[in-house]
Amino acid sequence: MGVCGSLFLPWKCLVVVSLRLLFLVPTGVPVRSGDATFPKAMDNVTVRQGESATLRCTIDNRVTRVAWLNRSTILYAGNDKWCLDPRVVLLSNTQTQYSIEIQNVDVYDEGPYTCSVQTDNHPKTSRVHLIVQVSPKIVEISSDISINEGNNISLTCIATGRPEPTVTWRHISPKAVGFVSEDEYLEIQGITREQSGDYECSASNDVAAPVVRRVKVTVNYPPYISEAKGTGVPVGQKGTLQCEASAVPSAEFQWYKDDKRLVEGKKGVKVENRPFLSKLIFFNVSEHDYGNYTCVASNKLGHTNASITLFELSEPTSSSLLQGPGAVSEVSNGTSSRRAGCLWLLPLLVLHLLLKF
Ligand SMILES: *[C@@H]1O[C@H](CO)[C@@H](O)[C@H](O)[C@H]1NC(C)=O
Ligand SMILES: *[C@@H]1O[C@H](CO)[C@@H](O)[C@H](O)[C@H]1NC(C)=O
Ligand SMILES: *[C@@H]1O[C@H](CO)[C@@H](O)[C@H](O)[C@H]1NC(C)=O
Ligand SMILES: *[C@@H]1O[C@H](CO)[C@@H](O)[C@H](O)[C@H]1NC(C)=O
Ligand SMILES: *[C@@H]1O[C@H](CO)[C@@H](O)[C@H](O)[C@H]1NC(C)=O
Ligand SMILES: *[C@@H]1O[C@H](CO)[C@@H](O)[C@H](O)[C@H]1NC(C)=O
Ligand SMILES: *[C@@H]1O[C@H](CO)[C@@H](O)[C@H](O)[C@H]1NC(C)=O
Repeated sequence: MGVCGSLFLPWKCLVVVSLRLLFLVPTGVPVRSGDATFPKAMDNVTVRQGESATLRCTIDNRVTRVAWLNRSTILYAGNDKWCLDPRVVLLSNTQTQYSIEIQNVDVYDEGPYTCSVQTDNHPKTSRVHLIVQVSPKIVEISSDISINEGNNISLTCIATGRPEPTVTWRHISPKAVGFVSEDEYLEIQGITREQSGDYECSASNDVAAPVVRRVKVTVNYPPYISEAKGTGVPVGQKGTLQCEASAVPSAEFQWYKDDKRLVEGKKGVKVENRPFLSKLIFFNVSEHDYGNYTCVASNKLGHTNASITLFELSEPTSSSLLQGPGAVSEVSNGTSSRRAGCLWLLPLLVLHLLLKF
C-alpha cells in the first residue's frame, strides 16, 4: 500500500499492473450494476462515431482514490492524466462523481472501461461498455450496366456500419416493383426487357437514415414494330405513313417502296425520325405515290419490317385524312364506314349492358 503515494510516474499510458500495484485491484471481479456498493458506473454507453462519450462513476466520501481505465490502460488516476490521447479529458472529480469524457469517439474506442476506486483500503471496480455506432455507408456498388436480353446479371452492394447494416435491392423504375433481393447481391438470370430500369440499393442500421444508391440496368433487345399505320389520301392532299418500333438501343428507320429505298430529300416527301417513331410525309400526294411501303426498323441486335399502304381515297372527307391501323385494304373494303355507321348503337349497347347488371 505504500506505493499508493507515488503517482508521479512518466506521462504515459500504463498498464493495469501499475494500478494493481497502486490499488491492489483484483482482476475479473467487476462490481455488478445494481450492487449497492460503490463505485457505481453508469449503464453501457452508446455513442455515434465522432461524438463525445461521457463515462461517469458515482462515488461517496469514503472513496480515497479513483481511476478510469481503458481495458488495462489507465486513462486518469485522480486528477492526473496518465495517457497521451488528447481526446480524453477529466470532467469532474468530486466527492460524489468521477467522470471523464472521450471526444471524437472512433470505432477502436469501443470496449470495456473500468472505474476503479479504493474505499476503506478495499479496491473495487465497476465496468461500463462503450458501444460505438457508425452510420451505414455504401462502400462498393456495381456500375450502371447495359446487357442483351436473356443474359444473366449480378449486382453487388457492399455496405459498412455498426451495427452491421441490412442491405436490400429494389427495382424502382420505370415501375416500382419492390424488393428484389434482401442482401448485398442481386442475381437475375435470363433478364427480360421488363426488368430494365433503375435498381436501388439501400443500407440501413437504425443509427442514421438509410443510405441509397442507384444502378441503371439497360436491357438491349431487337426492334419490334408495334404500330404501322396506313393512310388513305386523295390526290393533292398531305399524307403521312407512321411506323412505331420499340427497341434498345432505339431503332433506326428506313423506308422502301416496292423494294426501292426512299432517299431523304426526295421532292415533296419528308422522313421524320424520332427514337421510337418514323413518319413518311407526302406534302402533295399524286397518283404515283400510292402503293405499298415498307418500314424497316433496325438496331445492333437485329431488324424487322412492316408493310404500310398509301392508298387513294376517292371521295375527299371533311377530315381529308383517314387513318386506320395495319393493312389499309381493310379500310378500302369499306369496313371503316360500316363501323362508323354502327357507332350510334354503342350508347344503347352500353345502356343495355348496364341494365343487365
Ligand atoms: C454492456 O455491454 C456488454 C458488451 O456488449 C454486454 O455484455 C452487457 O450485457 C451490457 N450491459 C448492459 C447492462 O447492457
Ligand atoms: C482504448 O483502447 C484501445 C485498444 O488499446 C485503443 O485503440 C483506443 O484508442 C483506446 N481509447 C481510448 C479513449 O483510450
Ligand atoms: C445464366 O445462368 C445459368 C445458371 O447459372 C446458366 O445455365 C446460363 O448458361 C447462364 N447464361 C448466360 C448467358 O451466361
Ligand atoms: C400539288 O401538285 C399538283 C400537281 O403537281 C399541283 O397542281 C398542285 O398545285 C399542288 N398542290 C399544292 C398544295 O402544292
Ligand atoms: C406489300 O409488300 C410486302 C413485301 O414488301 C408484302 O409482304 C405485302 O403483302 C404487300 N402488301 C400489300 C397489301 O400488297
Ligand atoms: C422484311 O422482312 C422479310 C422477312 O423477315 C424479309 O424477307 C424482307 O426482305 C424484309 N424487307 C425489307 C425491305 O427489309
Ligand atoms: C376485302 O374485301 C374482300 C371482298 O369482300 C375480301 O375478300 C378481302 O379479304 C377483304 N380484305 C380485307 C383485308 O379484309
